[in-house]
Amino acid sequence: MSPRRFHILTFGCQMNVYDSDRLSRLLRSRGWEEAADPEESALVFLNTCAVREKAAARVIARLRELRSLKKRNPSLILGLGGCVAEHEGARILETLPFLDLVVGPRRLPEVPLILEGDSPHGFPAVLLGDPGPAERLPESLVYPPPPAGRGIGRKAPVSAFVTVMEGCDNFCAYCVVPKTRGRERSRPREEVLKEARALTETGAVEIVLLGQNVNSYGRDSSRGDKEPNPFASLLRDLDALSGLLRLRFTTSHPKNFPGELIEAFRSLKTLCPHLHLPLQSGSDGILKAMGRGYGYQRYLETVRALRSARPDLALSADVICGFPGESAADFQLTLEAVREIRFDSLFAFRYSDRPGTRGAGMEGKVPEEEKARRLEALLKIQREISLSINRGLVGRVLKVLPEGPGREAGQLTGRSGGNKIVNFFGDPSLLGRETDVLITRAGPVSLLGELTPPPAQAGAL
Ligand code: SAH
Ligand code: SF4
Ligand code: F3S
Repeated sequence: MSPRRFHILTFGCQMNVYDSDRLSRLLRSRGWEEAADPEESALVFLNTCAVREKAAARVIARLRELRSLKKRNPSLILGLGGCVAEHEGARILETLPFLDLVVGPRRLPEVPLILEGDSPHGFPAVLLGDPGPAERLPESLVYPPPPAGRGIGRKAPVSAFVTVMEGCDNFCAYCVVPKTRGRERSRPREEVLKEARALTETGAVEIVLLGQNVNSYGRDSSRGDKEPNPFASLLRDLDALSGLLRLRFTTSHPKNFPGELIEAFRSLKTLCPHLHLPLQSGSDGILKAMGRGYGYQRYLETVRALRSARPDLALSADVICGFPGESAADFQLTLEAVREIRFDSLFAFRYSDRPGTRGAGMEGKVPEEEKARRLEALLKIQREISLSINRGLVGRVLKVLPEGPGREAGQLTGRSGGNKIVNFFGDPSLLGRETDVLITRAGPVSLLGELTPPPAQAGAL
């Protein structure tokens, strides 16, 4: 019998990318094969994002498209997974009755069991919330180990994600994540180290640690971890891992950014000089209404301390425009903050009302056109700042980790320690090897460079 084939479509944040990879590993370890085309698959699974209305609407539109596939092939199993599944719950079956699976992010590891009939759930199967005591699976099925062995077509990518904690207890007024991902849970340090070790042994040289709120790592565990800062201590352990060149993490929360973490940027050799530290607003009134737990001055102090510990630190942030009650003066404060801090890059979003959040019930909703105007103004300023920072890099030599082919034939693309995208002409044998690249041109989102010394002169030297 030919193996059953599956196709996973992934939307949303890096944690969804990681979760889809976990699900793919689980299915492959049970004899399934990944198909490049949904048309050739017995299972089409959408791993989805509910963070903004637009993201969720995109998923629903895609599902409606896939319905025709299901009509042509009635035995196709069509699954909705991830944050939209959790956020919508079983009621999504009223609008999309052709779905076979509705599976929240905390229940994804159970998907193979349902498909194999080893689960009491019939179709359509609706699995939401936390797994109950009877449904809890062993760690090896929740976080299946990365495939072992070099050179058997299963090489780890140059850069790999490892989740250290999941869930969020912050309940920012606008955000669905605490609802979709549940309460904060940390993975045991040994498990994280084991996974990172397995990845470096199979060729990964960069590890990106993931968590909705990594500074909470280890805080929820009743494992008797006596470290004053378990996350900083995890970073130190990973820094000592042989074969690891680069370590990154995302996302940390500005409200409790500890001194140990600032120190880590000064002292750890693999920790890259880049930090994503979501600001959300420059107005204390709005930050308070959002429930962020810090004011602008505190955020600024953290940034100053980080920059003094690591002068080459590149910073990025998220900002929301048009949160309920945001006045023109509040928004000016956000613009001023962006000018004052000079982020290397900024992810700016129009506030999107999410059912079930505190924000949805708040007064003072900002009209869509006004949100759009504010977003535009913010992006314009940021574009100028990014361009000016990036132009300052022209003529400098950056260490770039080439990760894959670039846009043009013969080009490679990689990132600098500061997370700048750098394209340059080079041989694919450089993939996964930190390489000196002279920056020759700069745009707001990427840089162009050339190998130093250029290959033509290399022989002559
Ligand atoms: N855990 C991370 C990321 C959460 S979602 C953190 O706390 O930083 C990523 C970003 O989406 C957020 O930082 C926020 O800027 C944005 N976001 C979340 N909910 C939103 C909403 N309802 N409308 C607009 N942007 C939102
Ligand atoms: Fe959402 Fe706030 Fe938690 Fe981030 S910290 S995931 S923005 S609730
Ligand atoms: Fe989206 Fe869920 Fe990530 S809502 S941002 S996929 S945690």
